[in-house]
Amino acid sequence: MKKRYILALDTGTIRNRAVIFDNDSNIVSVAKKEIVSFHPKPGWVEQDAEEIWSTQLLVAQEAIEKSGIKKEEIAAIGITNQRETTVVWDKMTGRPIYNAINWQSRQSEDICRELRKLGLEEDFRQKTSLVINSYFSGSKIRWILDNVPGAQAKAEAGQLLFGTMDTWVMWKLSGGKIFATDYSNASRTLLYNLRELKWDEDLLQYLNIPICMLPKVCSSSEIYGYTDPSLIGIKIPIAGDAGNQQADLFGQCCFEPQMAKNTYGEGSFFLMNTGQKFYQSNNGLITTIAWGINGKVTYALEGSIFVAGAAIQWLKSGLGILDTLAESEWLAKKVGDSGGVYFVPAFRGLSAPYWDMQTSGLMIGLKNDTTKSHIVRAALAAMAYQVRDVVEAIESDTKMKIQDLKVDGGASNNNLLLQFQADILGIPIKRSRIRETTALGAAYLAGLAVGIWKDTDELKKKWQEDVCFTPQITEIEREDYYTGWQNAVSHVMSWVD
Ligand code: G3P
Repeated sequence: MKKRYILALDTGTIRNRAVIFDNDSNIVSVAKKEIVSFHPKPGWVEQDAEEIWSTQLLVAQEAIEKSGIKKEEIAAIGITNQRETTVVWDKMTGRPIYNAINWQSRQSEDICRELRKLGLEEDFRQKTSLVINSYFSGSKIRWILDNVPGAQAKAEAGQLLFGTMDTWVMWKLSGGKIFATDYSNASRTLLYNLRELKWDEDLLQYLNIPICMLPKVCSSSEIYGYTDPSLIGIKIPIAGDAGNQQADLFGQCCFEPQMAKNTYGEGSFFLMNTGQKFYQSNNGLITTIAWGINGKVTYALEGSIFVAGAAIQWLKSGLGILDTLAESEWLAKKVGDSGGVYFVPAFRGLSAPYWDMQTSGLMIGLKNDTTKSHIVRAALAAMAYQVRDVVEAIESDTKMKIQDLKVDGGASNNNLLLQFQADILGIPIKRSRIRETTALGAAYLAGLAVGIWKDTDELKKKWQEDVCFTPQITEIEREDYYTGWQNAVSHVMSWVD
């Protein structure tokens, strides 16, 4: 049978990638390129939206060239993206009016504080299931409209458009013809009513954001439009769109309630499918839309952890005790455990499930025989403990017991981390053979829309395990370790930075 291909565009925080998959979900080619982040002030993170777009186009062209296939053989494009990152651009010129404000940036924290002071937290929580935090797009849009002269008036006159990176890339890729996003990305803006599935007029009013600057919210799998032929040399349907963590949940084939995945990157993102049930967390998690397909929306509970692999990166570039990130595994293996050292890497405050933005990191339990191996091990263990915090919260919210966990992301190559994760959760941890599960999720969404695959039952059969890590410690040991972590976290929470 003739092969068909899907091009997945993955606009990430650190790099943009383009991956071509065939209809058996094999990777045919990959191209990637890093993008720069700026830090104009402490806590601020910005990126050049033009660079994000030109890099994404470049890697798409490169992946096509490398693949050796004809452009005509690409049946569709799927897009996935770093979520919440916000750009506002001029509809006529197509030029951003300010840098893209990255999801990690805290520059709009004052705006959030004001909203909290007005007592609006519960209203936002009921409608969006999010906490009022500078992580989400709403306050970032407000910040741009406040800080770029004349922007508010232009936005009200319908001259400015807002987008997360999926919207921006799609708009550019279609030559300005598609102005859309999908449910999963809309659910990260702090402006989208998750129960009524619409931009919420009250929330828009609180933030004074005109609705005309917001994209149309579409399903995650449908033909939104076509590429501008002048860019890739041909008209290709753009047919899949989802935020990267939701796309990853899809790529990991977590199609049924109770199925969960965690991605260990700079941050760590845990999502559990809750099906058509909307849970309002009482334990510091957020509900997010996983995807919307054929008029049906699937929800997920999410624990977003801001600092995970970034702590290992800090051991390398901040403390200088690692030459490479990969070295962390063999250094940590030199010791049997972290020797009583706990490291809570709350560099940017504590995110889920604590949401304490006023605090900072801590290392506790240091003795004169502590070595760098113990510290590295404590940093790896912190990734696993933070996932346990989220799992505790999810199980308490849903009364469901997670049976196993699928994992991916850069740090999932670290076997010691995954073994410790299995130990500390007491469940099997499964790493999939295909590592590009985020791009694969976007490809699946696009492929379903153009008929390459029939349904999720067909996709489910394609998931293959690489390794499964099973728990190797006793219940008593597990709880001892975790109690130590909870103690360390309680010290962090009593600390005001
Ligand atoms: O919510 C932020 C998340 O989407 C960032 O993903 O992998 O690009 O850092 P990543």
